Amino acid sequence: MADLSIDVNGMKFENPFVIGSGPPGTNANVIARCFEAGWGGVVAKTCALTDTEVINVSPRYGKLRAAKSNEVIGFQNIELISDRPFEDWEADFREIKASYPNKILIASLMESFSEKRWQELTRRSVTAGVDGFELNFSCPHGHPETGMGAAMGQNPMMVEAVTRWVKAAADGRPVWSKLTPNITDIRVPARAAFAGGADGVSAINTILSIIGIDLKTLRPVPTVEGHSVPGGYSAQAVKPIGLRMVQEIALDRPGCEISGIGGVWNSTGAIEFLLVGASTVQVCTGAMLLGYEMVDELKEGLAKFLADHKFANVRAMVGASLPYFTTHHHLVELQAEKRAQRTAANRDLNWGKERITDETARLTSNETAASTAGGNPASSAAAPAAS
Ligand SMILES: Cc1cc2nc3c(=O)[nH]c(=O)nc-3n(C[C@H](O)[C@H](O)[C@H](O)COP(=O)(O)O)c2cc1C
Repeated sequence: MADLSIDVNGMKFENPFVIGSGPPGTNANVIARCFEAGWGGVVAKTCALTDTEVINVSPRYGKLRAAKSNEVIGFQNIELISDRPFEDWEADFREIKASYPNKILIASLMESFSEKRWQELTRRSVTAGVDGFELNFSCPHGHPETGMGAAMGQNPMMVEAVTRWVKAAADGRPVWSKLTPNITDIRVPARAAFAGGADGVSAINTILSIIGIDLKTLRPVPTVEGHSVPGGYSAQAVKPIGLRMVQEIALDRPGCEISGIGGVWNSTGAIEFLLVGASTVQVCTGAMLLGYEMVDELKEGLAKFLADHKFANVRAMVGASLPYFTTHHHLVELQAEKRAQRTAANRDLNWGKERITDETARLTSNETAASTAGGNPASSAAAPAAS
């Protein structure tokens, strides 16, 4: 297998594929399964200090299926952060790093707007041996009701302050701020995170949504005791939004580290995130619905892509599609320029630069259409000219 490794903020990922914070990384047992399956890193399920109240409901997931194929294209959750005491997480972090010293383990943290609490969480995670941090400024449901998660991510001042607090307590370990897409311009909180000293940003978390209404009962889904709340939308349908937001951050801050997230189902999607500027790619819902083994195809697809396009390594392809984004105004200019070139090339003055038979062929609309050979030449003369 080709070398798929990438160094991001001093963390050496054996491949850029990372399990995104959520059920696939919710305790030491499942994190070990991710590593055994071949993922380069895991962002653990978000944790908080033990006295933060977390009570999950059930059911808490809903699926959106394609009308004809029944394939799951969208997924909504109203799940909270980890309901496990932080002491259990400290034990898990130690156990995982002891068993998998070369795999990258990132702690995902969430707390209230308190320097003391964020720094306690950070210091204790450093002591337990994690490689880096992701700050959850982006959970769109549940905790925003108490001023946490996306409520902070929508306030650039808070993003900057918390990032600075965590960075000061992280003992040199890298800190990624995970941004919410539930905002007008993602570049604003991204700039705030970098102003606070973030080493990178992760984007996107889930999009606030209502996955559907049960037409028999009139109740929203997922239905808990007859009621529901809007939740976080993920899976295949969100990939275009994730790609757009990663591209916006990458163009705004060239060379910054971005962990791209949202709807990755296969190597095509993962490669797309790398091409618009992500240096790692996280997968959460894909792993839940397709299984941890989906990483095999991610690795095979990326290795083939690198070889086909002759990229020396993964880093060399990061952001390779960014130069092809421009403004709509510029697209119009490019097209006008092209049209002018074509018109100029067809003027009589240009006859004589090639063999006359080639010049005749170039101006013939059905030159290669065998079906009209021997037909009425008038029909080809009447064909509309290419614009
Ligand atoms: C059931 C579920 C639970 C999640 N829990 C967390 C979480 O605890 N912390 C977090 O930062 N993101 C959480 N996420 C968001 C994912 O990490 C990811 O940002 C989002 O789902 C988009 O990626 P995906 O389409 O690959 O799932 C969760 C997502 C799902 C589906």
